[in-house]
Amino acid sequence: MLDLLVTNATLPDGRTGMSVAVQGGRIVDVTPGLAASAAETVDAGGCLLSPPFCDPHFHMDATLSYGLPRVNESGTLLEGIAVWGELKPSLKADDLIARALTYCDWAVARGLLAIRSHVDTSDASLLPVQALLEVKKRVAPYIDLQLVAFPQDGVLRTAGGVDNLKRALDLGVDVVGGIPHFERTMSEGAASVKLLCEIAAERGKPVDMHCDETDDPMSRHIETLAFEAQRLGLQGRVNGSHCTSMHSMDNYYVSKLIPLIAESGVSVVANPLINITLQGRHDTYPKRRGMTRVPELMAAGVDVAFGHDCVMDPWYGMGSADMLEVAHMGLHVAQMTSQAGIRACFDAVTVNAAKVMHLEGYGLAPGCDASFVLLQARDTIEAIRLRANRLKVWKKGKLLSQTPELAARLHVDGRPSSVNFQV
Ligand code: FE2
Repeated sequence: MLDLLVTNATLPDGRTGMSVAVQGGRIVDVTPGLAASAAETVDAGGCLLSPPFCDPHFHMDATLSYGLPRVNESGTLLEGIAVWGELKPSLKADDLIARALTYCDWAVARGLLAIRSHVDTSDASLLPVQALLEVKKRVAPYIDLQLVAFPQDGVLRTAGGVDNLKRALDLGVDVVGGIPHFERTMSEGAASVKLLCEIAAERGKPVDMHCDETDDPMSRHIETLAFEAQRLGLQGRVNGSHCTSMHSMDNYYVSKLIPLIAESGVSVVANPLINITLQGRHDTYPKRRGMTRVPELMAAGVDVAFGHDCVMDPWYGMGSADMLEVAHMGLHVAQMTSQAGIRACFDAVTVNAAKVMHLEGYGLAPGCDASFVLLQARDTIEAIRLRANRLKVWKKGKLLSQTPELAARLHVDGRPSSVNFQV
């Protein structure tokens, strides 16, 4: 007998009337109209069953700290870094852990079950690192939390920056991070990329760098990152996050750059909510969007995913762990309004993000983990349009969260008694 059988589901690839059979925490069959006895059977009613949402770029050490010690008035990246710098000396591990755990509760309810979080390694105390390693341990039964050693203040610009980053890796942080555009000069930025990739190669770690999060078209650290990935044999293990300067670059230069990124197997994560608010702040009108070239990178075969980046922190006061909100903004900013474009934006917060994170057992196929989300939507396009309600969320066959079906009751004479925003 099966542990769980979900029937009459629509899958992200468009197949309808599908049954997903679960045994021992794994998917054992995905087939149309399967009738088998199971300890629990759930009729999906034609709704979309998706693998869980994945956030490949987040800052869990800063999340839910909005207003501490003050709000970022200018809304710029640099004031955000300054506010975070003011908060850091008074950070307490217990508070940081409590905020992170609350965020993970939100994530579960949103069907977001894998998060790659950068963690600030600038301070010699490594307090955020130790706190998030504790969070990683506590949430392991329900969230795959990957940590990136992130030298927020610049690995070369900060005294002891390299040593602190290496100690974070020694403590068990999974990925090597960086922030070359925040180093003092372009050449120092390039040197930091080279150094950090060499550290990753020596230790057999992946790389995920904040790269060119600026409007300056001359910020070209992604080029160095792609070069180093190839030189050190790190193809498929390196990610460039943000890459917003690519928005402002000359088209001719980009025509050389994108094939180089594709050739080096470097993936790219855009963060639409944050890129659209932080970038273009020095522009009058027209104001640049400031998000990297998503459709062009995808067309070149680069794995492109979307991250949330921030929720209620010094850089961004909005958000609720909703990766459909991220995908919704992404399709607007990138003008990916065709049906294929919208579906690609759904992939950017599911399969593409899982690939960036090298998640094992991810997907809706026999042998994969029985981790999935039932959405109150009939397909991926409707899911993004509605930022659809997550009816049920399972992790390895275990129900983690459920939300009642959403319907507004209408009191309008001669009109239906309820609406759910589906036509
Ligand atoms: Fe970030």
